[in-house]
Amino acid sequence: MSSNLKKICCIGAGYVGGPTMAVIADKCPNLNVTVVDINKERINLWNESDTSNLPIYEPGLADIIKRCRGKNLFFSNKVEENIADSDMIFISVNTPTKKKGLGAGKASDLKWVESCARKVAKHSIGHTIVVEKSTLPVRTAEVIKTILEASKNTNSKKSINPTFAVLSNPEFLAEGTAINDLVNPDRVLIGGDNENAIQTLHEVYKNWVSEDKILHTNLWSSELAKLTANAFLAQRISSINSISAICESTGADVREVARAIGSDSRIGSKFLDSGPGFGGSCFKKDILNLVYLSEYFGLKEVAEFWEGVVQLNNWHQNRISQLVVKKLFGSVSGKKINILGFAFKSNTNDTRESSAIKICKKLLEEGAILYIHDPKVEEKQIENDLKITFNMKRNEDLSPNLHNNEVEGSWKKVNNLSEAFLDSDAVLVLTEWEEYTKINWLDVASQMRFPAWIFDSRSIIDPIKVKEAGLNFWRIGDGT
Ligand code: UDX
Ligand code: ADP
Repeated sequence: MSSNLKKICCIGAGYVGGPTMAVIADKCPNLNVTVVDINKERINLWNESDTSNLPIYEPGLADIIKRCRGKNLFFSNKVEENIADSDMIFISVNTPTKKKGLGAGKASDLKWVESCARKVAKHSIGHTIVVEKSTLPVRTAEVIKTILEASKNTNSKKSINPTFAVLSNPEFLAEGTAINDLVNPDRVLIGGDNENAIQTLHEVYKNWVSEDKILHTNLWSSELAKLTANAFLAQRISSINSISAICESTGADVREVARAIGSDSRIGSKFLDSGPGFGGSCFKKDILNLVYLSEYFGLKEVAEFWEGVVQLNNWHQNRISQLVVKKLFGSVSGKKINILGFAFKSNTNDTRESSAIKICKKLLEEGAILYIHDPKVEEKQIENDLKITFNMKRNEDLSPNLHNNEVEGSWKKVNNLSEAFLDSDAVLVLTEWEEYTKINWLDVASQMRFPAWIFDSRSIIDPIKVKEAGLNFWRIGDGT
């Protein structure tokens, strides 16, 4: 371990910053790691003695927090103080797609990154290594560098001008497997042009990652590699989802097609599960960044190629809601549909860009009554996502807790699956939570209103058991 590096500060205590710093603290007991955030509520949750209330759910995370918190891992709102006495600062703040102005709908909004860079410039003392951790558009490091350089000339209060080195160290963790991805990474990417800084960060990872997996590149390659990795992964999902539609029309089975092509070692078997469309905070945002970048450099065909991946995903999500309506005799108005899963995938409480949001909204527009279940997503989050508030009129006839909207439909969060299916017309599985694989379909059938449908967009339900229970069954990409 480099003798100069004693304290790390991470700005942003979210899905990336929290788990990443927890693993660094766990693997590097000699380092002092502090995660800071302007969101007080979030920091309080990170500091709660009951680790079941951590602000994010990630298998294995609570154990690390129990081991390290208060020893060499700290969570704090004191952003400025922690910047001042740190040798290395990770920027791990949110970078959502811009909603308005130049690049709206495609470019990332860098205002939080810029604000961090300004704080670092103002409060740093001595030499500081600044590490980009958030997924960022290519050449963001240049923005950070420019802000840091500018501070040298304006910072008259400090007797010695601070110095900085900027590195890109993109995160490849996937939610739900974040701890394992961090502990056993396929590779760690360090982009930069300052050899000392690169070596210092390399030494941190060397504590638990074998050196052949720690790749050094220039800054821009590192930034672009992160966008490209996510674009390739998302592209595979759109590819297999497009094939699922062909399977349904032709009598093929997408699982068999995926197995057949996945056993070609050039293609590989991972990321070939057809589902309700990709969600999560990264895929869509990163592809749109790539599209924006391509357009900026006049690469129209390249932009169109990548935009097609997002368009296919949107089409696929709509396809599923339309299909449900069609199977239920062309109307879901006033019909009760159980939605199983709201998170964008299992083992996370994250709903960002979850296909469930778009699919539920479409069904609500059609007047459906949705009973939504998810083992980890809170009712408040669903309410935010569906943009339906408690103060709207309630439909007392159906249930006292039903949320109504100006559209015809309404919804309710269900906590106990055993009582969820009474008088239901359909069940739609949207997230692959393990508990849904254990549902007793004979019990469910005894509660539902016939003719009843089970729609499985994740291929986790046993078709034989559902059919034995007398239920109609549809699953993604099954044309057989
Ligand atoms: C992704 C990348 O995997 C990770 O490397 C990067 O750092 C962040 O973005 P994440 O968004 O957490 O991670 O989840 P991921 O497992 O990639 O899944 C994204 C979406 O694709 C989910 O909605 C998931 O359900 C869907 N998916 C994934 C499929 O539909 N089929 C698959 O075969 C795999
Ligand atoms: P990610 O998935 O990239 O980790 P999150 O939204 O989960 O994104 O987390 C980002 C965190 O960054 C949020 O908790 C937010 O409050 C925090 N944040 C944003 N801007 C700043 C800032 N200038 N200073 C400190 N924290 C910030």
